Amino acid sequence: MTTHSLLILPGDGIGPEVMTEVRKIIDWFGAKRDLPFDVSEDLVGGCAYDKHGTPLHDDTMAKAQEVDAVLLGAVGGPKYDDLDFSVKPERGLLRLRKEMDLFANLRPAQCFDALADFSSLKKDIVSGLDIMIVRELTSGIYFGEPRGIFKEGNERVGINTQRYTESEIDRVARAAFELARRRGNKVCSMEKANVMESGILWREVVNRVHQESYADVELSHMYADNGAMQLVRAPKQFDVIVTDNLFGDILSDCAAMLTGSLGMLPSASLGAPMANGRPKALYEPVHGSAPDIADQAKANPIACILSFAMALRYSFDQGDEAARLEQAVESVLASGARTADLMGPEGGTPVSTSDMGDAVLRALDASL
Ligand code: IPM
Ligand code: MG
Repeated sequence: MTTHSLLILPGDGIGPEVMTEVRKIIDWFGAKRDLPFDVSEDLVGGCAYDKHGTPLHDDTMAKAQEVDAVLLGAVGGPKYDDLDFSVKPERGLLRLRKEMDLFANLRPAQCFDALADFSSLKKDIVSGLDIMIVRELTSGIYFGEPRGIFKEGNERVGINTQRYTESEIDRVARAAFELARRRGNKVCSMEKANVMESGILWREVVNRVHQESYADVELSHMYADNGAMQLVRAPKQFDVIVTDNLFGDILSDCAAMLTGSLGMLPSASLGAPMANGRPKALYEPVHGSAPDIADQAKANPIACILSFAMALRYSFDQGDEAARLEQAVESVLASGARTADLMGPEGGTPVSTSDMGDAVLRALDASL
């Protein structure tokens, strides 16, 4: 029996509450599916700052490098708004991404049948939607140098630099093509090659990788602003979208909202393969720490539960068990259980955070 190691970083706000539910699910797989996990827990974000004066302690960083996968809740909150930029909760998350070299951020936007009415778009435009945004996560304007606020004459200037090397584009393009082959076999690459040199290079490299290794996958290109428009006009035209760090940040929020259920969406951030052949990986819900509803048993644990499902699939090679968990979540939604964020005009049964976790456990039991 192999044990899988998992580092859990619940973080701030609703992070700890939703993670409590995920722990129950993890234990279920150990007890009922003979899939034991060696789980350790640590601090990230504001809570780490409170204890250590840094949003990510070096020991935690070292642990993250050793485990098979990291599962993170959420970071940040108003309490930390006035902290110096260098120790803001978000810096902990960015350090994990950068030092683990998690260059491919997978953000699925999937519309659950039971929730199609929640979208701000018409139901027929979103029902059945299933797209995957692959966002480059460790380079681009988030990390490019020079950066800073500098003095220029008698005023200040704020500078960030969009910078991409060919190899950085190459590896994220490959990740997108590989994924597309396991889904709808289509990739749309988004940049602004009409105004940015980094976009021209991006398009060139994506085309080269396509011709060299993935000619069987259908490839198209779009300027990112048009991409944003197409996402709200006719999102079902897309299968996999590959784009840079900043456009990916924005486009993935837009895609998430299309589904009407931000509280439902998981994500995976993957790096290069480790010695065991699996990629370095961090999984986290797309939603934030939602401090306004923290500690009120209102949070929806499903995005975090589905992030664990992605871990089962991408880090532990358990695609069938991931599908089992995803189906359990679908059946709970179909049964009408609704956390506060999912309560709409058509009603449903209001449930608390832990009720929702328990309902998923019952659906898992029923799947056996
Ligand atoms: C995200 C978030 C982060 C980002 C923040 C919290 C640093 O918006 O994961 O999309 O901008 O990447
Ligand atoms: Mg974002």
